[in-house]
Amino acid sequence: MKSAKPYIEEHKQRFIDELIELLKIPSISADPAYKDDVFNTAEAVKDSLKKAGCDTVEICETPGYPIVYGEKTIDKNLPTVLVYGHYDVQPPDPMDLWNSPPFDPVIEKTEIHPNGAIFARGSCDDKGQMYMHVKALEYMTETNQLPCNVKFMIEGEEEVGSASLEWFVTRNREKLANDVILISDTGMIAKGTPSITTGLRGLSYVEVEVTGPNRDLHSGLYGGAVANPINILAKMIASLQDENNHITIPGFYDDVENLSEEERAKMAEAPFDKEAYKKAIGIGDVYGEAGYTTNERNSIRPTLDVNGIWGGYTGEGAKTVIPSKAYAKISMRLVPNQDWKKISQLFKDHFESIAPKAVTVEVKPHHGGQAYVTPIDNTGYKAASKAYEETFGKTPIPQRSGGSIPIVALFENELKSKTILMGFGLDTDAIHSPNEHFGIWNYLKGIETIPQFYHYFTEMSK
Ligand code: BES
Ligand code: MN
Ligand code: MN
Repeated sequence: MKSAKPYIEEHKQRFIDELIELLKIPSISADPAYKDDVFNTAEAVKDSLKKAGCDTVEICETPGYPIVYGEKTIDKNLPTVLVYGHYDVQPPDPMDLWNSPPFDPVIEKTEIHPNGAIFARGSCDDKGQMYMHVKALEYMTETNQLPCNVKFMIEGEEEVGSASLEWFVTRNREKLANDVILISDTGMIAKGTPSITTGLRGLSYVEVEVTGPNRDLHSGLYGGAVANPINILAKMIASLQDENNHITIPGFYDDVENLSEEERAKMAEAPFDKEAYKKAIGIGDVYGEAGYTTNERNSIRPTLDVNGIWGGYTGEGAKTVIPSKAYAKISMRLVPNQDWKKISQLFKDHFESIAPKAVTVEVKPHHGGQAYVTPIDNTGYKAASKAYEETFGKTPIPQRSGGSIPIVALFENELKSKTILMGFGLDTDAIHSPNEHFGIWNYLKGIETIPQFYHYFTEMSK
């Protein structure tokens, strides 16, 4: 496979412009108000796949948002790469913290991205990273170098739990048959330190509702004599972690696989600058489970975090009230071998059991997903490693990530193939946050590296 560099150099402005057009459509899967935009984004992705050289492209209806499917078969005897990505994005709020509108992309230079980065919701997660694969396909077809078959499956519900994808995958095992699954929806350690993600955390997401009195009460007339649901909720949440930041839910750690000292030592070799880490997010110190490093805390250890908490009076000025209800949304990041449905149940049982009689508690489990970890002795990993060596001049570091792509574990079970996570985003790209961006260098480097993966994977599969 010839280096894609000259082709990229010639077409880079168009590659950027096309991505910008895609980023203008607010495909927010969580908010029904954007339904038409989500459908329109699917159409735009379909058109881009057709233009990039897919023989067949289709919009596959599901009970939710459609899945865009495309394929190009050159020879049934050659291997098939299945590319997965998502065209939906997170809601952009809080809006007032964006320096430019989230769906009106702009290019700005930053310290880390001196060549500029595209600022827009979805630029990195995942429209930008997904689109690298579309442009890599364009390069390979336009220059007659596609070495194997390719299938694309781009969904529109990743940010809300991928329910329809599970529906689709279990009904289309034949159609989706492949030799390796390739995903760019993760990050890399740093621009000069390529890495391949070898693990993802699972997720259990729950919502809790604490009810005290049957109506809001005057906090003077009743205060002190009646349980305040917000006070109770705060106490209950605080009790979920002990002084070592261990989670106190009985059975929570039962299935957690502990890494060997050797594996932990290997992990510790990955470069990590604690001061830069603190500075980038403006914190005075790191914080977490006793006995583990920052990199361990955010990848191989499970967590429990409140994502939102509300209730009572939050408007202007002061109102003296004991509210009837208090709420919280809580996520638990899980590690391989922990079952998310079991953890959701353990949480529910425990949370209900610690509630004082003065309140009633309801726990509603939301979505979840299993964690994933992959060995590095398979053809896909080796091919990816070679691809990075070719374009970065360095061997990538295997790294377990703290994020979740719940569908990856399902792919392995249903499609029986390995998933290779070639991420090109940086932790500082602010995914899910205001001012999300994706470095132009990273975008183009991804387009350059992906064709090399196809080449080495085909070669090494012989
Ligand atoms: N692309 C992310 C996951 C990710 C980001 C993994 C960076 C590793 C590194 C994905 O779109 C995502 O946000 N997943 C959700 C889970 C989903 C069920 C809402 C997450 O991790 O919160
Ligand atoms: Mn994503
Ligand atoms: Mn995301």
